[in-house]
Order: sequence, then structure tokens, then C-alpha cells
Amino acid sequence: FNVPTPKNEPILGYAPNSKERVSLKAKLAEMKSQVIEVPMFIGSEELKEGKKLPLTSPHDHQHVLGYYYEGDASHVNKAIDSSLAAREKWANMSWEHRVSIFLKAADLSASKYRMELNAATMLGQSKNAFQAEIDSACEWIDFLRFNAHFATQIYAQQPESSEYVWNRSEYRPLEGFVFAVTPFNFTAIAGNLPASAALMGNVVVWKPSPTQIYSAYVLMKILKEAGLPDGVINLIYTDGPLTGDIAFRHPEFAGVHFTGSTKVFQHIWKTIGENIHIYKSYPRIVGETGGKDFVVAHTSADTKALAVGLLRGAFEFQGQKCSAASRAYIPKSLWESTWEYFSKDLAELKMGSVEDFSNFVTAVIDEKAFDKIASYIDWAKNSDTAKVIAGGSYDKSKGYFIQPTVILTEDPKFTTMTEEIFGPVLTIYLYEDDQFEETLHLVDTTSPYALTGAIFSQDRYAIELATKKLTNAAGNFYINDKPTGAVVGQQPFGGGRASGTNDKAGSSLNLLRWVSPRTIKENF
Ligand code: ALA
Repeated sequence: FNVPTPKNEPILGYAPNSKERVSLKAKLAEMKSQVIEVPMFIGSEELKEGKKLPLTSPHDHQHVLGYYYEGDASHVNKAIDSSLAAREKWANMSWEHRVSIFLKAADLSASKYRMELNAATMLGQSKNAFQAEIDSACEWIDFLRFNAHFATQIYAQQPESSEYVWNRSEYRPLEGFVFAVTPFNFTAIAGNLPASAALMGNVVVWKPSPTQIYSAYVLMKILKEAGLPDGVINLIYTDGPLTGDIAFRHPEFAGVHFTGSTKVFQHIWKTIGENIHIYKSYPRIVGETGGKDFVVAHTSADTKALAVGLLRGAFEFQGQKCSAASRAYIPKSLWESTWEYFSKDLAELKMGSVEDFSNFVTAVIDEKAFDKIASYIDWAKNSDTAKVIAGGSYDKSKGYFIQPTVILTEDPKFTTMTEEIFGPVLTIYLYEDDQFEETLHLVDTTSPYALTGAIFSQDRYAIELATKKLTNAAGNFYINDKPTGAVVGQQPFGGGRASGTNDKAGSSLNLLRWVSPRTIKENF
């Protein structure tokens, strides 16, 4: 049991004229000049059949990067059958050999494929170079290496025995297939959901978001090159409800690993409940869902740190991190100073294509997201109880661009304070200085979600009070830091309430959901 304790993959800085910037730019140019065709991966086959659909860039929606093939019910069934055909051999492979495949994938991702992964994430999901690097390079590599390490720790956990009785624990994979439903906003999460279940010996049907297919394809190529046997992970591009209907009504369905909306996850849970009598075992249901992540400041906060936390927390990757700050509570006496720092930095943010590395803000993921975010901005513009104090404009003529937008409201229950927007919109409520405790109550009760949140304060009593009062308001709670950017191995990630099952991605807690242990007692 000697997989070394991993270190987090160092982040490349892509400084002007650096070797890595030159190399990433070359990769971007190469990939932009091609029109690729992305197959589904089912068993040993790479299938280009079904409806041919374009893959485009959110920041340049007329530019076709390639095509993918949308499969139908036959592909879903074939993917399930292929996973089940691969199951026995994979489940019986000794864990050292399984783990080695994922460690090899980490190595390939850190070297040979790093630029391709980042370029695919930049072009396909419109992440700027830095946001792509911390996601599709570092976080993905960290998931692979830390999960391998945590898996070996799990396998090493054995019960007490004696000279007369030998007790053993076996960490068997689930009996059936796991269905991974993955999001667009992190390439690392999209890869980790199928990979973590497969690492523990499970076979997987993987349905990515249609807006993340470009980088999903690169992840799959890497896993294959690392030696992942055919059928262990089957990557299909099929309609969500159709795929769910087939997967959740299959007797061999053993678990779902999901990141996406609360509404879809609740529907999944209900469907599983309705079909519970047909499965062999109670399925594992693991999901990370919505958020309405908060920042609350105390009168003792350092306003410069607060302003940086708000700006980065709310607007990195256009506010499309599930962890993004989207509602803030600031004492009135700190507002002037906070806004002075905040508005100055905000004015300097550049918006545009990912190919210009000086752009902090790029486009939101697609037209549906654009329209939804724009409608929230319009709602605020037309309201008597809120004011748009920065940004507020949007334009989808070339790409889905929305200016980072700040809304100030007198109403702590204003729509944009309570509903998930998933875009570059931050709403701020100013509270009376002596109302800190009441404000904590508002933070706790205003939204059904509990993913991330942050307190900014220099007063240890205030920090302690917030930490206690907000016990269940966030699965990841930050003190004097933005609520985004959890690092694998350092801040296990996930939330409760309407935000998910809180099975902490990048930790042994998550991996334990993908095994069904057997205890063996033997008398001598
Ligand atoms: N792990 C990502 C973050 O913390 C979602 O921002």
C-alpha cells in the first residue's frame, strides 16, 4: 500500500513569452484550424453515427470546432451492455493495476496532453488560460492522483483479528453499472465523476453535458491511452431525459454520480425511488447540485481583501462555478471603502476571446444561459428595490458576452439574492452595522442551497459566531477568502441542503460510495 502521498500539481503561470504560453498558443491555433469529428466510445468501438451536430466556441459561436454525433436509445442500451460485459474482468482486476491506469492518465495529462486539455477547455467552454489550467490540468490531475492515494488507504483499512479469528474487509465494486452525468463548468469534475467510480472497480456509462464534449473527448483519449480497458467507461452523447429513462429503468443500475441542476437531481431521485423494486441493490445516489453562494462581511473586515474576494469569487469563469459568490452582505460603514477597491479593479477587467490572454472575462456557455442571465439583469434594471451599479450590458452577436454585473438592493430577499443565476451577476445587500447576528440569520435562511460561503472579518468573536450560526449553510466555508477554488486534497468539496449529497469530491468519503464492502470472518 505504497502509492506515495501526492503533491498538488503545480500551476503553470503562462507569463508573456514563457515557453508554456508559446506552446498553449500554438495548440490553440492548431486546434482552431482543424474541424474534428468526435466519436462516442462504446466498448471497443468509436462510433460516428446518429445526428451530426456542431461543436462551437461560446465566445465565437459561428466558429465550428468540430462535430459530434448525438446517439439515440440504441446507443444508451449498447453502452449499458458494453459496461456490463466489461464488468467481471474489471471488478476482479487487482486494485494495484486499476490504480496504475489512473496514475498513468495523470502523468499523460500533466505532460503530453496538458496543452490539448487546456486548449479544448478554452475553446469549447470559454475558460481563460488560467481558469483552464487550474481546472483541466491541475484539478483533473489532482483528482486522479489523490483518488489513487485515498483508494489505497481504503483498501488498507482492515478490522481487528486474533490468533484464532481472522477478520477481513473486501471493498467490492457495486453490482451493476454506474451512470455518470457530468457538467460543463469543470472539465476536472466531468472527468472525475466517471473516473472515481471506475477507479473503485465499477463500470460506467458517462453522459457529459453537450457543451463539454470537446474536452470530454480529450479526457477519454487520455484514459484509453493510459490503458483503460474497453467498456469500463462508455462515453455517449445522448439526450439527458432519454438516457435517464433507460438507465434508471435498468435492473443492473447500481448508482448515479451527478453534477448539475437541483431540479434534474430531484427528478433523478424520484425516478430511482419509483423503480426501487427492480434493482438488485439500493443504488448509490451521489450528486452536487445548485448553489447560491454567499459572502458576508463583518464591520472588522479588511475591505481590500473583501473586494478581491468578491471580484474573483463572483466573476472568475463568468460566475459559472458552482461555488461562485452570488450574494453578499456588507455592513453599511464598510461600503464606501469596499466599493472604491472593488469598482477600480472591476473597471480594469478585460472581456473578450480566450485567445487574448489578457482577457479575464470571456463568454458564458450558451444561448440558453445567456438569455437566462440577461433576464435577471433586466429584472434588476426594472426594479424599484434594486439598482445595477456596474456592468449590466450584454451582447450575443459574436459570442455570449455578459459584462460582470453588480446589483445593489435594499431588499435582502430580492430575486437575485435568492435564485441561482449561474453567471457573472453579484447582488449586494447593505446591512446596519449593529445587525450582524440578524444578518447571519438571513444568510442562513434566504436560500435553500448550502454549497459554499465566506466570512470576512478580523474579529475572532465574529468569525466564531459566523462559523457556528452558519453550520449548515455551506459545505465549504471560507474565512477571509473567496468561496471558490477548493483544491483537491486540501478542501474536500461539496455541499448539503439543496446543493447535494455532500459526498466530498476528492476525498475517501466519495470513493466509499462506490464500493459495497464485504466482511469475512474465519475461525481457525
Ligand atoms: N471545486 C470548485 C471550486 O471550489 C468547484 O471552485
